[in-house]
Amino acid sequence: MQKTILITGGAGFIGSHVVRLFVNKYPNYKIVNLDKLTYAGNLENLTDVANAPNYEFVKGDIIDVEFINSLFEKYKFDGVLHLAAESHVDRSISDPGAFINTNILGTVNLLNAARAIWQDNLGDKRFYHISTDEVYGSLGSEGFFTEETAYDPRSPYSASKASSDHLVRAYMHTYKLPVVLTNCSNNYGANQFPEKLIPLAINNIKNNKAIPIYGKGENIRDWLFVNDHANAIDLVFHKGKNGETYNIGGNNEWTNIDLIHKLCEIMDSKLGRKQGESAKLITFVKDRAGHDMRYAIDSSKIQKELGWKPSLQFEEGLEKTVDWYLENENWINNITSGKYAEYYDNQYNKR
Ligand code: NAD
Ligand code: TYD
Repeated sequence: MQKTILITGGAGFIGSHVVRLFVNKYPNYKIVNLDKLTYAGNLENLTDVANAPNYEFVKGDIIDVEFINSLFEKYKFDGVLHLAAESHVDRSISDPGAFINTNILGTVNLLNAARAIWQDNLGDKRFYHISTDEVYGSLGSEGFFTEETAYDPRSPYSASKASSDHLVRAYMHTYKLPVVLTNCSNNYGANQFPEKLIPLAINNIKNNKAIPIYGKGENIRDWLFVNDHANAIDLVFHKGKNGETYNIGGNNEWTNIDLIHKLCEIMDSKLGRKQGESAKLITFVKDRAGHDMRYAIDSSKIQKELGWKPSLQFEEGLEKTVDWYLENENWINNITSGKYAEYYDNQYNKR
């Protein structure tokens, strides 16, 4: 069936993988990618689909109400996959304002615009809000986040995402907007901006720079390969039930320090270095303020109800990721040559 689908934040890390998947898999959908192209948005992520007949890029800001309303009026979207967000916890600690604006107000603008064009015909429409496991707060050494876990966000980033999740559900209850939500664990893979742990470490190891580990490196994250997340998003968009939330995770918990040691091993062998060489770059630095101890997702609901499961073992995914970064030097050089240097200096050299 012919459909026009809006993907917000499609020039970012996860969004670009979702755009590529949808453009290639659904030639009968017209995919409109709306992105502000902040520091995190990069059209180089999408050069392979840029000229596809069913793809269109629109540059714009989800905070701009009039622009958003006119975009929905023009395209009469059948579905929305909302990924646009400010996404980095450290940036939310140093400057929360942009997180409140984009993640909360921007989401409300999209909800209002969808409601306005869909109000007479909600039947086959869908507003899909992509969120994070960080809304659930921090775990001790036991237990998992389920869809029933009470929200307990602890960073400006996770609080802004939690707020947007609540608003999406409120629009369902109040206005019957057909929504679906997912809360996913930490993603890794190609095209991730090198402010996040894995690409930052790969880039530093390659350049023989210190690898900054916050605190003692004991914090635990549950890592999922980005293409497995994109496949889950495809499944939920098409098969998920209205009003439902699905947790997505890799069942793959690593302390930061163990993960970095594994990455150093892989990098040593890829770069032809002696084993143990890259690990010498590990440097413990001041901890992140309010650093959540552990995230771990129980993804049994999406596995049982929709038949999703991660396709890759972590070691295999990490190796693919390292290969991508080593093979795409231009991508990383274009990013790290500009404003990134300033960010890096503020975040790591002036702490
Ligand atoms: P990202 O920072 O790589 O990309 C975000 C994209 O949104 C960028 O292209 C940026 O230009 C765009 N954007 C930002 N503000 C905008 C605005 N005001 N208007 C229009 N576009 C704007 O983020 P990501 O890691 O790809 O995350 C995508 C989504 O998935 C986010 O909603 C995030 O909360 C969620 N998520 C991320 C992870 C993860 O591990 N990265 C895990 C779970 C959920
Ligand atoms: P990050 O990739 O920022 O994701 P999130 O905070 O959303 O989980 O960080 C992953 C983990 O790595 C987190 O525990 C913080 C830690 N970390 C470091 O130790 N050093 C770093 O330079 C960064 C960016 C993160």
